[in-house]
Amino acid sequence: MTDRELFDIAMSMCDKAYAPYSHFYVGAALITDDGSVYTGCNIENASYGATNCAERTAMFKAVSEGHAHFNRIAVAAYDGTCAYPCGICLQVMNEFMADGTVILEENGKLVDYRVSELLPHGFNL
Ligand code: THU
Repeated sequence: MTDRELFDIAMSMCDKAYAPYSHFYVGAALITDDGSVYTGCNIENASYGATNCAERTAMFKAVSEGHAHFNRIAVAAYDGTCAYPCGICLQVMNEFMADGTVILEENGKLVDYRVSELLPHGFNL
């Protein structure tokens, strides 16, 4: 699976986003070590604080299906904005894909960042 293919899957997940408050629709797609793909979208809540980002939706789906390690996740926003993962999502990436990469689109061009680059001092026990 190429980065572009994974990113396109992430972009297609924007259609599933539940974002009636921000109207900012985000999709994510990750690929596990055995090649399984898990997708996610942001799921907002009237309390705002209970909102789940697209990245965490995808990661929690993967972990809940028995995949606690993956290497690549793509994140897309419906309007082409570069959706850099938030701090909470980065901390979850630190848990399950600390040595992995995040694929994003900056000004129409795919880029990848190491998780450790976006979160150089993640918390570990
Ligand atoms: N959001 C994501 O799902 N992922 C990101 O990388 C950035 C932010 C969502 C959370 C919220 O539903 C909306 O975008 C606006 O912050």
